[in-house]
Amino acid sequence: MRARGKKMFRSNWLVLLTAALVLGLGAAFANPMTFGGVGKSAVWYWNYVGDGMKQAASDVGGKALFQTPQQGDVTKQISIFQGFIAQGVNGIAFAASNPAPFKHVVQTALKQGIPVVAFDSDAPNSGRLVYVGASAYNGGVVAGKAMIKALGGKGTVAIQVGSLTALNAQRRIQGFMDTIKGTDIKVVTKQNDGEDPSTAFSQAQSILSAHPNLDAFLGVYAYDAAAEAQAVKAAGKVGSVKIVGWDDAPDTLKFIKSGVITATVYDGEKIYGQVATMILYDMNAFGVNNTLRMLGFDPNANPANNIVNVPLTLITADNVAQFMH
Ligand code: BGC
Repeated sequence: MRARGKKMFRSNWLVLLTAALVLGLGAAFANPMTFGGVGKSAVWYWNYVGDGMKQAASDVGGKALFQTPQQGDVTKQISIFQGFIAQGVNGIAFAASNPAPFKHVVQTALKQGIPVVAFDSDAPNSGRLVYVGASAYNGGVVAGKAMIKALGGKGTVAIQVGSLTALNAQRRIQGFMDTIKGTDIKVVTKQNDGEDPSTAFSQAQSILSAHPNLDAFLGVYAYDAAAEAQAVKAAGKVGSVKIVGWDDAPDTLKFIKSGVITATVYDGEKIYGQVATMILYDMNAFGVNNTLRMLGFDPNANPANNIVNVPLTLITADNVAQFMH
């Protein structure tokens, strides 16, 4: 009975929300809403997230301001965040390069009535109201299984990643390590490229020279797999060094098509921007607690557990055609 009541409550909300959108409620607010988005670095991936925010904001007659530091610098991320508070935006979505330093600014925004959600890389103890994103740990498991298949359960792997402090990076690697446990796959090095694609490329070249018998790369961030593919191609090792990565960079997809990259874990980054903005809009239009209830969360419970889970897909040569863009 209770579950049914809750379900009915939720569907009533959906009807109301749909009606509000159809009637153009967004446009009816005295001042169009402005949302602030804080990304992690200036790579293509974040353009997609920003586009998702801008599209959703414009659908409700508002706008999104999206900014990123050059390379995952958390101090710069915090100052972008503070800038949005100072402008009095209607909501902030952020991805933490390092979760701990965000607590203070998230609390400041919430105290001023600015709702805050995290996306892509969580800061669960910051007090943010909701996290929107795929399970980073499960992504690591999916990548681990793809690697086991690519290597037939045996070989040496080098890991490249853009951050050692971001939760998504830590959890992706943890999921991968837990999955390869008990196989004959060994990680020979793990290197931080600081969210810089050109560093990732030169690092991949040095890794190939330092480990001439390397069997595979795991590229944990969006630009890593394509950088590794270029290094593997330049070294004439296509096929003998496998690559498993993340995201749908146009280059990554081309390298999958041509057989240089084996697989990539895709979680639809544009959706992060869209969903986060819709949630921030609803929090302004209908109230924070009503929005949390509509999402199935208890407004009085610890917000760390308010997670809107976005599904993951593995892209390989078999299905890459449907993801090309
Ligand atoms: C991650 C982001 C990261 C981006 C870098 C993505 O895979 O989810 O956190 O900033 O790669 O390009």
